[in-house]
Parts: sequence; C-alpha cells; structure tokens
Amino acid sequence: MTGAAPPRRFAADRLRVYLRPIELADIDRGWLAWMTDPQITRHLMSGPNQTRESLTAYYHASQPPKARMFAICRQADDRYVGNARLHAVDATHRKASYGWLIGDKASQGQGLGSEALFALVRHGFLALGLNRVSTSVAVDNLASLRAQERVGFVREGLLRDYLWTGERFVDAVQFAMLRRDFDALHG
Ligand SMILES: CC(C)(COP(=O)(O)OP(=O)(O)OC[C@H]1O[C@@H](n2cnc3c(N)ncnc32)[C@H](O)[C@@H]1OP(=O)(O)O)[C@@H](O)C(=O)NCCC(=O)NCCS
Repeated sequence: MTGAAPPRRFAADRLRVYLRPIELADIDRGWLAWMTDPQITRHLMSGPNQTRESLTAYYHASQPPKARMFAICRQADDRYVGNARLHAVDATHRKASYGWLIGDKASQGQGLGSEALFALVRHGFLALGLNRVSTSVAVDNLASLRAQERVGFVREGLLRDYLWTGERFVDAVQFAMLRRDFDALHG
C-alpha cells in the first residue's frame, strides 16, 4: 500500500455502527479480551498488560469533562465491537485527542473502524463544539493510517521513537482535523 488515500465523504445517517456510552460491564463483554491481545495492544498508547483493575481505573478516568468514552456497536445486531474515546478535552482551546479500536476481529477490515472514527470526531465537533481533534499513529499501523486519511485527517508531522512496542521504538505520524476540515468534507 503506497501513497495517501483520498478522503471519503461519510453520511451520518447511513453508518453501520453507532456509539453508546461505555459501561463497566463492557470489560467482560470483550474489552478485557481485546486489551490482553498483543495483536491489538501493540499499536495502542495504553500498552500491553492490562487487567480488570487497570481497565476499571481507565473507565473512571475517561469521564466528562476531560474525556468521553464510547462503546462501538454494529447497527445490524447491536454487537459490541470496539471502543472510541476523546480525551484531554480542553474547553479553552476547544481541542481533544482521541483513540479507538475495533477489537472484535470478525468486524475488522469492513470499513466499520473508519465509520466509527467519523462518528467519534463528528461528536467532538458537533456535540462538544471542538475546533481540533488529533492523534498519533504508529508508522506500521497501516489500517489506522489509512482510516485517518479516509476520514480526512491531515498529516502534521512525524514523532520520532514515539512508541515502545516491547522490543523497539517506532515512529508515529501526528494527525489532526479541524472543524473547518470536517465541514468542508462531511458537512
Ligand atoms: C485501526 C482499526 C480501528 C481499523 O479498524 P477497521 O474496521 O479494521 O478499519 P477499516 O475496515 O475501516 O479499514 C480502514 C482502511 O485500512 C485498510 N486496512 C484494513 N486492515 C488493513 C491491514 N491489516 N493492512 C493494511 N490496510 C488495512 C482498509 O482497506 C481501509 O482502507 P480503504 O478505505 O482504502 O479500503 C483496527 O484495525 C484496530 O482496532 N486495530 C488495533 C487497535 C488500533 O490500532 N487502534 C488505533 C490506534 S491509532
């Protein structure tokens, strides 16, 4: 896969996923299993070795006003397939960071992650009034890099040695989207 993927326009009323507030019970519905799967955690800033206790603490640290955390569910059958979170919500500068995952492997690679990312940033801009949302993605996380580009995120730079995989440091790409970028593409 070479070159940047052109952004797509997403229609909010035709998404195959929806976001609902995360619940502590989601830890046993899949969240803990995903967060102890090295194939998933190797790309995440939160890192490996998560436990029920660490996820419970993460849940409590992900509440408003500094964060909003959601379960990603399929419209077709309400199946819980992943998590999406806005964090470091800064009301003064109207910005936030975000992270997300499709942990249910049977649901990966079908465009659901891209749709969930769109739903998350839409919530940030329209419901929370943010002006900027940003994240960093490991350079070897091809699905995530591609999804950011499809949703219309702009590459702002390269963060050297940004993640420790357990074996080595990897660089990460800094991505951001502004409200005006969102309106121009999806409005
Ligand atoms: C990143 C992640 C959320 C993407 O979810 P997904 O539902 O599988 O992604 P999508 O199906 O929307 O695919 C997004 C794009 O990546 C491409 N893609 C998917 N899997 C890929 C892979 N393994 N290698 C290369 N490209 C891939 C898709 O073809 C699509 O590109 P396209 O629009 O040009 O066809 C999911 O892979 C995941 O949870 N990974 C582990 C956790 C993680 O990395 N979270 C993000 C941290 S920044």
